[in-house]
Amino acid sequence: MSKIEKAIRKVAKDREFGPDQADSANDAASAENATISRQRVPAVIKIEPGQRFELDPVVLERNRIIHPGFPESALNSYKMLRTRVVQMIEDNNWQTIAIASAKQGAGKTVTAINLAMTMAGYRNHHVYLLDLDLRKPGVAPDLGLPEDFVGLEDYLAGKSPINQVLWDIGIDGLTVAPSCDSVRDSSELIASGGIGSLFSTILSSVTNPVIILHLPPILSADDALAIAPSVDGMLLVVAEGTTAREDLSRAMDLLRTTNVIGVVLNKSVSV
Ligand SMILES: Nc1ncnc2c1ncn2[C@@H]1O[C@H](COP(=O)(O)OP(=O)(O)OP(=O)(O)O)[C@@H](O)[C@H]1O
Ligand SMILES: [Mg+2]
Repeated sequence: MSKIEKAIRKVAKDREFGPDQADSANDAASAENATISRQRVPAVIKIEPGQRFELDPVVLERNRIIHPGFPESALNSYKMLRTRVVQMIEDNNWQTIAIASAKQGAGKTVTAINLAMTMAGYRNHHVYLLDLDLRKPGVAPDLGLPEDFVGLEDYLAGKSPINQVLWDIGIDGLTVAPSCDSVRDSSELIASGGIGSLFSTILSSVTNPVIILHLPPILSADDALAIAPSVDGMLLVVAEGTTAREDLSRAMDLLRTTNVIGVVLNKSVSV
Protein backbone atom coordinates (compact mmCIF):
# COMPACT_ATOMS: atom_id res chain seq x y z
CA MET A 1 0.00 0.00 0.00
CA SER A 2 1.39 3.43 -0.90
CA LYS A 3 1.99 6.05 1.77
CA ILE A 4 -0.80 8.17 0.31
CA GLU A 5 -3.27 5.25 0.35
CA LYS A 6 -2.37 4.57 3.97
CA ALA A 7 -2.87 8.23 4.80
CA ILE A 8 -6.28 8.23 3.08
CA ARG A 9 -7.33 5.22 5.14
CA LYS A 10 -6.18 6.97 8.30
CA VAL A 11 -8.24 10.06 7.50
CA ALA A 12 -11.30 7.85 6.92
CA LYS A 13 -10.70 6.10 10.24
CA ASP A 14 -10.27 9.44 12.04
CA ARG A 15 -13.54 10.63 10.59
CA GLU A 16 -15.43 7.68 11.96
CA PHE A 17 -13.89 7.24 15.38
CA GLY A 18 -12.08 10.47 16.22
CA PRO A 19 -8.34 10.78 16.48
CA ASP A 20 -7.81 8.92 19.74
CA GLN A 21 -9.05 5.60 18.46
CA ALA A 22 -7.55 5.74 15.04
CA ASP A 23 -4.28 3.91 14.60
CA SER A 24 -1.21 6.05 14.90
CA ALA A 25 1.96 6.57 12.96
CA ASN A 26 3.09 2.91 12.85
CA ASP A 27 0.15 1.87 10.81
CA ALA A 28 -0.24 4.88 8.59
CA ALA A 29 1.84 7.39 6.79
CA SER A 30 3.54 10.25 8.55
CA ALA A 31 1.45 13.06 10.03
CA GLU A 32 2.70 15.26 7.23
CA ASN A 33 1.28 12.98 4.55
CA ALA A 34 -1.97 12.59 6.47
CA THR A 35 -2.35 16.37 6.52
CA ILE A 36 -1.74 16.58 2.80
CA SER A 37 -4.35 13.88 2.18
CA ARG A 38 -6.89 15.59 4.43
CA GLN A 39 -6.68 18.63 2.19
CA ARG A 40 -6.91 16.84 -1.12
CA VAL A 41 -9.26 13.91 -0.52
CA PRO A 42 -13.00 14.62 -0.51
CA ALA A 43 -15.16 13.26 2.32
CA VAL A 44 -15.22 9.47 2.20
CA ILE A 45 -17.70 8.82 5.00
CA LYS A 46 -21.10 10.47 5.03
CA ILE A 47 -22.05 10.97 8.63
CA GLU A 48 -25.63 10.08 9.49
CA PRO A 49 -27.30 10.48 12.87
CA GLY A 50 -27.38 7.13 14.63
CA GLN A 51 -30.10 8.23 17.07
CA ARG A 52 -33.66 9.35 16.45
CA PHE A 53 -35.96 11.14 18.84
CA GLU A 54 -39.45 12.57 18.62
CA LEU A 55 -39.73 15.88 20.46
CA ASP A 56 -42.56 16.35 22.95
CA PRO A 57 -44.16 19.82 22.61
CA VAL A 58 -45.15 19.81 26.29
CA VAL A 59 -41.52 19.38 27.37
CA LEU A 60 -40.40 22.03 24.89
CA GLU A 61 -42.98 24.50 26.16
CA ARG A 62 -41.88 23.93 29.75
CA ASN A 63 -38.27 24.60 28.80
CA ARG A 64 -38.97 27.65 26.59
CA ILE A 65 -37.91 25.80 23.46
CA ILE A 66 -39.64 26.52 20.14
CA HIS A 67 -42.72 24.35 19.60
CA PRO A 68 -45.98 24.70 17.65
CA GLY A 69 -47.62 27.02 20.21
CA PHE A 70 -44.53 29.17 20.86
CA PRO A 71 -45.39 32.89 21.32
CA GLU A 72 -45.04 34.72 18.04
CA SER A 73 -43.18 37.72 19.49
CA ALA A 74 -40.51 35.44 20.98
CA LEU A 75 -40.29 33.45 17.73
CA ASN A 76 -39.79 36.70 15.81
CA SER A 77 -36.94 37.68 18.14
CA TYR A 78 -35.16 34.38 17.45
CA LYS A 79 -35.76 34.79 13.72
CA MET A 80 -34.27 38.29 13.88
CA LEU A 81 -31.22 36.91 15.67
CA ARG A 82 -31.02 34.02 13.18
CA THR A 83 -31.12 36.28 10.16
CA ARG A 84 -28.46 38.63 11.48
CA VAL A 85 -26.17 35.73 12.37
CA VAL A 86 -26.68 34.07 8.98
CA GLN A 87 -25.88 37.34 7.21
CA MET A 88 -22.61 37.59 9.12
CA ILE A 89 -21.84 33.91 8.46
CA GLU A 90 -22.41 34.27 4.73
CA ASP A 91 -20.61 37.61 4.42
CA ASN A 92 -17.53 36.26 6.15
CA ASN A 93 -17.57 32.57 5.17
CA TRP A 94 -17.88 31.58 8.83
CA GLN A 95 -18.99 28.12 9.86
CA THR A 96 -18.69 27.90 13.65
CA ILE A 97 -20.55 30.07 16.16
CA ALA A 98 -20.32 29.66 19.93
CA ILE A 99 -22.93 30.71 22.47
CA ALA A 100 -21.47 31.75 25.82
CA SER A 101 -22.16 34.02 28.78
CA ALA A 102 -20.20 35.55 31.62
CA LYS A 103 -21.86 33.51 34.35
CA GLN A 104 -24.42 30.73 34.78
CA GLY A 105 -28.09 30.92 34.00
CA ALA A 106 -28.16 33.76 31.45
CA GLY A 107 -29.96 31.59 28.88
CA LYS A 108 -27.19 30.04 26.76
CA THR A 109 -28.88 26.67 26.39
CA VAL A 110 -32.26 28.08 25.43
CA THR A 111 -30.65 30.56 23.03
CA ALA A 112 -28.43 27.92 21.41
CA ILE A 113 -31.29 25.48 20.85
CA ASN A 114 -33.75 28.08 19.57
CA LEU A 115 -31.16 29.69 17.32
CA ALA A 116 -30.27 26.25 15.92
CA MET A 117 -33.93 25.43 15.32
CA THR A 118 -34.67 28.68 13.50
CA MET A 119 -31.46 28.50 11.48
CA ALA A 120 -32.01 24.88 10.38
CA GLY A 121 -32.78 24.80 6.67
CA TYR A 122 -32.77 28.60 6.42
CA ARG A 123 -30.99 29.50 3.16
CA ASN A 124 -30.15 25.80 2.90
CA HIS A 125 -27.93 25.72 5.95
CA HIS A 126 -27.46 22.43 7.75
CA VAL A 127 -27.00 23.16 11.43
CA TYR A 128 -25.10 21.01 13.88
CA LEU A 129 -25.81 21.89 17.50
CA LEU A 130 -23.03 20.61 19.76
CA ASP A 131 -23.31 20.65 23.54
CA LEU A 132 -19.83 21.55 24.68
CA ASP A 133 -20.88 22.49 28.18
CA LEU A 134 -19.30 19.32 29.43
CA ARG A 135 -19.65 20.51 33.01
CA LYS A 136 -23.40 21.03 32.89
CA PRO A 137 -24.86 19.56 29.69
CA GLY A 138 -28.12 21.39 29.10
CA VAL A 139 -29.21 20.54 25.57
CA ALA A 140 -30.45 17.01 26.30
CA PRO A 141 -32.62 17.91 29.31
CA ASP A 142 -34.11 20.94 27.54
CA LEU A 143 -35.04 18.79 24.54
CA GLY A 144 -36.35 16.05 26.81
CA LEU A 145 -33.92 13.38 25.58
CA PRO A 146 -33.63 10.18 27.61
CA GLU A 147 -31.36 10.46 30.65
CA ASP A 148 -28.84 7.82 29.69
CA PHE A 149 -27.20 7.81 26.28
CA VAL A 150 -23.80 7.89 24.61
CA GLY A 151 -22.89 11.57 24.79
CA LEU A 152 -20.59 13.78 22.79
CA GLU A 153 -18.05 13.44 25.60
CA ASP A 154 -17.66 9.77 24.63
CA TYR A 155 -16.80 10.68 21.04
CA LEU A 156 -14.29 13.28 22.24
CA ALA A 157 -12.68 10.70 24.51
CA GLY A 158 -12.38 8.31 21.57
CA LYS A 159 -14.89 5.86 23.04
CA SER A 160 -17.61 6.14 20.42
CA PRO A 161 -17.98 6.50 16.66
CA ILE A 162 -19.41 9.82 15.57
CA ASN A 163 -22.71 8.48 14.22
CA GLN A 164 -23.66 7.18 17.63
CA VAL A 165 -23.56 10.64 19.22
CA LEU A 166 -25.55 12.42 16.49
CA TRP A 167 -29.33 12.78 16.89
CA ASP A 168 -32.04 13.40 14.34
CA ILE A 169 -34.81 15.17 16.31
CA GLY A 170 -37.21 15.47 13.40
CA ILE A 171 -36.24 18.95 12.19
CA ASP A 172 -34.95 19.17 8.63
CA GLY A 173 -31.47 20.63 8.45
CA LEU A 174 -30.70 20.09 12.14
CA THR A 175 -28.49 17.48 13.75
CA VAL A 176 -27.80 17.55 17.48
CA ALA A 177 -24.79 16.19 19.36
CA PRO A 178 -25.82 16.36 23.02
CA SER A 179 -23.52 15.64 25.93
CA CYS A 180 -24.81 13.34 28.63
CA ASP A 181 -22.57 13.17 31.68
CA SER A 182 -20.58 15.99 33.20
CA VAL A 183 -16.87 15.56 32.73
CA ARG A 184 -14.36 16.45 35.44
CA ASP A 185 -11.40 17.32 33.20
CA SER A 186 -13.56 18.92 30.55
CA SER A 187 -11.15 21.64 29.42
CA GLU A 188 -8.43 19.02 28.90
CA LEU A 189 -10.87 16.95 26.85
CA ILE A 190 -11.77 20.03 24.82
CA ALA A 191 -8.10 20.79 24.22
CA SER A 192 -7.22 17.20 23.35
CA GLY A 193 -7.68 17.42 19.59
CA GLY A 194 -11.01 15.63 19.22
CA ILE A 195 -12.82 18.91 18.60
CA GLY A 196 -10.72 19.70 15.53
CA SER A 197 -11.43 16.27 14.13
CA LEU A 198 -15.14 16.67 14.89
CA PHE A 199 -15.29 20.05 13.18
CA SER A 200 -13.48 18.88 10.06
CA THR A 201 -15.65 15.75 9.87
CA ILE A 202 -18.87 17.76 10.06
CA LEU A 203 -17.74 20.59 7.81
CA SER A 204 -16.63 18.24 5.05
CA SER A 205 -19.70 16.04 5.15
CA VAL A 206 -22.59 18.35 4.25
CA THR A 207 -23.11 21.43 2.14
CA ASN A 208 -23.68 24.78 3.86
CA PRO A 209 -22.83 23.54 7.34
CA VAL A 210 -23.08 25.74 10.43
CA ILE A 211 -21.85 24.51 13.78
CA ILE A 212 -23.46 26.06 16.86
CA LEU A 213 -21.70 25.38 20.15
CA HIS A 214 -23.30 25.60 23.57
CA LEU A 215 -20.49 26.54 25.96
CA PRO A 216 -20.12 26.86 29.72
CA PRO A 217 -19.86 30.32 31.30
CA ILE A 218 -16.65 32.22 30.56
CA LEU A 219 -15.91 33.17 34.16
CA SER A 220 -16.55 29.82 35.83
CA ALA A 221 -13.97 27.64 34.06
CA ASP A 222 -11.44 27.71 31.24
CA ASP A 223 -13.50 25.49 28.87
CA ALA A 224 -14.96 28.34 26.85
CA LEU A 225 -11.57 30.01 26.53
CA ALA A 226 -10.05 26.71 25.42
CA ILE A 227 -12.51 26.44 22.52
CA ALA A 228 -12.59 30.16 21.64
CA PRO A 229 -9.63 30.10 19.22
CA SER A 230 -11.35 27.39 17.17
CA VAL A 231 -14.58 29.27 16.49
CA ASP A 232 -15.32 31.90 13.88
CA GLY A 233 -17.53 33.96 16.13
CA MET A 234 -19.01 34.07 19.60
CA LEU A 235 -22.35 35.39 20.83
CA LEU A 236 -22.55 36.46 24.46
CA VAL A 237 -25.89 35.97 26.20
CA VAL A 238 -26.70 38.60 28.81
CA ALA A 239 -29.67 38.31 31.18
CA GLU A 240 -31.32 41.64 31.70
CA GLY A 241 -31.26 42.65 35.33
CA THR A 242 -29.05 39.71 36.28
CA THR A 243 -25.75 39.87 34.43
CA ALA A 244 -23.52 42.33 36.28
CA ARG A 245 -21.77 44.94 34.19
CA GLU A 246 -18.41 44.07 35.75
CA ASP A 247 -18.87 40.36 34.96
CA LEU A 248 -19.59 41.19 31.34
CA SER A 249 -16.55 43.40 31.16
CA ARG A 250 -14.32 40.73 32.79
CA ALA A 251 -15.62 38.21 30.26
CA MET A 252 -14.98 40.61 27.37
CA ASP A 253 -11.49 41.19 28.68
CA LEU A 254 -10.77 37.45 28.67
CA LEU A 255 -12.19 37.27 25.15
CA ARG A 256 -10.09 40.11 23.72
CA THR A 257 -8.61 37.82 21.05
CA THR A 258 -12.00 36.24 20.28
CA ASN A 259 -14.34 37.49 17.58
CA VAL A 260 -17.34 38.43 19.73
CA ILE A 261 -19.99 39.08 17.08
CA GLY A 262 -22.79 40.25 19.32
CA VAL A 263 -24.55 40.32 22.64
CA VAL A 264 -27.97 38.69 23.01
CA LEU A 265 -30.15 40.46 25.54
CA ASN A 266 -32.20 37.71 27.17
CA LYS A 267 -34.93 37.72 29.81
CA SER A 268 -35.74 41.27 28.82
CA VAL A 269 -38.74 42.76 30.58
CA SER A 270 -39.20 45.45 27.96
CA VAL A 271 -40.36 43.13 25.13
N1 LIG B 1 -35.99 34.64 27.84
C1 LIG B 1 -36.19 33.95 28.98
N2 LIG B 1 -37.17 34.32 29.81
C2 LIG B 1 -37.38 33.67 30.97
N3 LIG B 1 -36.66 32.62 31.39
C3 LIG B 1 -35.67 32.20 30.60
C4 LIG B 1 -35.38 32.83 29.35
N4 LIG B 1 -34.32 32.21 28.78
C5 LIG B 1 -33.98 31.22 29.63
N5 LIG B 1 -34.78 31.20 30.72
C6 LIG B 1 -34.73 30.28 31.85
O1 LIG B 1 -33.56 30.58 32.61
C7 LIG B 1 -32.98 29.37 33.09
C8 LIG B 1 -31.53 29.29 32.58
O2 LIG B 1 -31.58 29.17 31.16
P1 LIG B 1 -30.48 28.33 30.39
O3 LIG B 1 -30.38 26.97 30.93
O4 LIG B 1 -30.77 28.48 28.94
O5 LIG B 1 -29.22 29.18 30.79
P2 LIG B 1 -27.68 28.79 30.72
O6 LIG B 1 -26.96 30.07 30.51
O7 LIG B 1 -27.48 27.72 29.73
O8 LIG B 1 -27.46 28.25 32.18
P3 LIG B 1 -26.22 27.36 32.70
O9 LIG B 1 -25.04 28.28 32.70
O10 LIG B 1 -26.67 27.00 34.07
O11 LIG B 1 -26.09 26.21 31.77
C9 LIG B 1 -33.85 28.23 32.59
O12 LIG B 1 -34.76 27.90 33.60
C10 LIG B 1 -34.57 28.84 31.40
O13 LIG B 1 -35.82 28.23 31.16
MG1 LIG C 1 -26.63 25.84 29.71
